[in-house]
Amino acid sequence: MSLIQLYAETLRLGRAELPEKREAFLDIILGETQRLHGLVENVLRLARRKAPLRQDMRDLAATLQAALDEFSLPGARTLRVEIAEELPAVPHDPAAIHSLLGNLLSNALKFSGEDDAVEVRLQARKGEVVLQVRDAGPGIAAEELARICEPFYRAPQAARTRGSGLGLSIVRQIARAHHARLHIDSQPGVGTTVEVVFRAD
Ligand SMILES: Nc1ncnc2c1ncn2[C@@H]1O[C@H](COP(=O)(O)OP(=O)(O)OP(=O)(O)O)[C@@H](O)[C@H]1O
Ligand SMILES: [Mg+2]
Repeated sequence: MSLIQLYAETLRLGRAELPEKREAFLDIILGETQRLHGLVENVLRLARRKAPLRQDMRDLAATLQAALDEFSLPGARTLRVEIAEELPAVPHDPAAIHSLLGNLLSNALKFSGEDDAVEVRLQARKGEVVLQVRDAGPGIAAEELARICEPFYRAPQAARTRGSGLGLSIVRQIARAHHARLHIDSQPGVGTTVEVVFRAD
């Protein structure tokens, strides 16, 4: 919040004369606004964790694509996306799936390098539908894996990045509300794959 204020005030006072500088400041304001939006969304979801979710949407591929379209803003890192055709129907709440994907992508992008690929995949497996988000970041130490889905928990290795430790707890909450299983498979130095396995109808 204070960064948004600082850079907006600098622009307001006309202290950023070069267009490149103005653009850089606007990028910071946009990035911070997005981060704050995600944080508010997570806090609200945590507070409303007992509230029932919708189950009336069934085309998970369409919901995922719509969410991805929204995340791919100009200047954003490109993702490798693979969505299988004709997947079985999965009853779901589109806003919750949007939030789940946003949190997984935020982690994959934040913890990996600018040039590392981030992959999103939706496919059928043994009659279930699997959402996979994979990164080639630093991975998560085995002894941390048990705790990273607790609200507000951040592994010591995450100290260099910003966050509140809420994202994965929200992902777990949303997966549970959909009767989906959550698997986090991570190898330090290789990367992390998070899978959400949805029951098909
Ligand atoms: N893709 C990943 N690669 C490496 N570490 C990860 C990854 N995803 C999660 N973690 C670890 O799990 C912790 C919890 O993740 P979570 O998304 O809940 O919190 P955060 O990203 O730190 O903060 P927030 O999501 O609230 O912005 C992280 O702080 C980090 O230590
Ligand atoms: Mg996160």
